Amino acid sequence: MNDLEIKRLVRPMVREIAPYRSARDEFEDFGAQKIFMDANENPYNTDTNRYPDPLQRKLKRVLAKIKGVSDNQILLGNGSDEVLDLIFRTFCEPGHDEVILLPPTYGMYRVLAQLNSVKVVDVPLDESFELDLAAIMSSVNEKTKLIIVCSPNNPSGNAIPLLQIQSLLDQFSGLVVVDEAYVDFSEVGTSLDLLEKYPRLIICQTFSKAYGMAGIRLGIGFAHPTVIDFFNKIKPPYNVNVLTQIKALSVFNLTDVLERQVRELIGERKKMKEKLLSVGFVKKIYPSDANFLLVLVDDAKKRYDQFLEQGIVVRSRSSLLGCANTLRVTIGTPKENITFINACKTIDQL
Ligand SMILES: Cc1ncc(COP(=O)(O)O)c(C=O)c1O
Repeated sequence: MNDLEIKRLVRPMVREIAPYRSARDEFEDFGAQKIFMDANENPYNTDTNRYPDPLQRKLKRVLAKIKGVSDNQILLGNGSDEVLDLIFRTFCEPGHDEVILLPPTYGMYRVLAQLNSVKVVDVPLDESFELDLAAIMSSVNEKTKLIIVCSPNNPSGNAIPLLQIQSLLDQFSGLVVVDEAYVDFSEVGTSLDLLEKYPRLIICQTFSKAYGMAGIRLGIGFAHPTVIDFFNKIKPPYNVNVLTQIKALSVFNLTDVLERQVRELIGERKKMKEKLLSVGFVKKIYPSDANFLLVLVDDAKKRYDQFLEQGIVVRSRSSLLGCANTLRVTIGTPKENITFINACKTIDQL
C-alpha cells in the first residue's frame, strides 16, 4: 500500500528511466582484496585514487544506528541543498506540479523550485511565524506535490510543533518535507519517529550546523525505503566524495564535544537574548530554537553597516516577507558574543 502510494507521486519519467550503472554498482565489495580494472582509475594508491562508494554504505550504517532508522531509509547528498534538489527532480513534473512554501523561509526552496520549473504557491506564516494550517490546506489543489516545512525555521528560528506536522500529513495526500537543519538546537525534536507511520514524509538534516562540518558538504535525507530507491536511481553516481565520507565518519568520535558545544550555544543564545533586550535600537527578539536570533531593529540597513564597521558580519533579512528591519545573528563562541554585545553598546551611543 505504501509503495503504491509513493509510486503514484513519482514523476513518470523517474519511474521509467533506466539508471546509469557505475563500475562500483556492478562490483560492490569495496573491502575485497581484488585487482580493480573496472573503472579506469589510476591504480597507484593515494587514498583518493578510487571512486567513492556510490551508496556510502559504511557511513549510512553508522548514521542509521545513531538516528534509529534503517540504512535503506537514508540518502546522503552534497549538502542538504542536493537532497532538496533531488526531491524536486524525483517528484515534481516540470511545468505542471506545484510546491507550497511557507515564507519567510530558507531561500533555496524557491530557487530549486524555479530551476525545476515547479510553480511556487506561497502560504505565509502568521505574524508569530507559526503555520496557518487552514490556509495551507485551502491552497492545496490536484497539482500540489510538495509542502516544505522548515523547522526550526530559517530565518525566524522557531520550531514547528510535531503535532502540526502530523496534522499536515493527515490532511494532505502529497509529500511533506521537513527541513531539520537546526533540529539539534531545538527542544521540539525531530519528526523521525513519524517516518514509520507516514511514507510521504521526507526529513532533511545536515552536517553543516550542529555537527560543525559545513565545509565537507554533507546533507541527509530520511524517507521510506521506496522513496530512497527512487533518489538513488537518479542521483549522480558519486555525489559524496571519498574525503567527505571519511571526515563524516570522524564526527561520531566527537559526539561528546559536539553535545557540549550545542549545550553551550543554547546557553549563549539565552544570554545573548537577555543582553540584547537592553540595547536601545533592538525592538524585538523572536523566540529561537536554532543557533541564531532574528532581531527586529530600528533601521536594519544602518545597523548592518555599523556592525560591519565594528568588524562583525550579520545577515539582513529585511527583504523577506514579514521581516522588515530584521537582522539574523548567528550565535558565536562566548568570546565572540561578548564582542558582539559590546559592539551593540558602542553602536547605541553613536
Ligand atoms: C534551513 C536550511 N536548510 C538547509 C540549509 C543548507 O544546508 P547544507 O549546508 O546541508 O546544504 C541551510 C543553510 O543555511 C538552511 O538554513
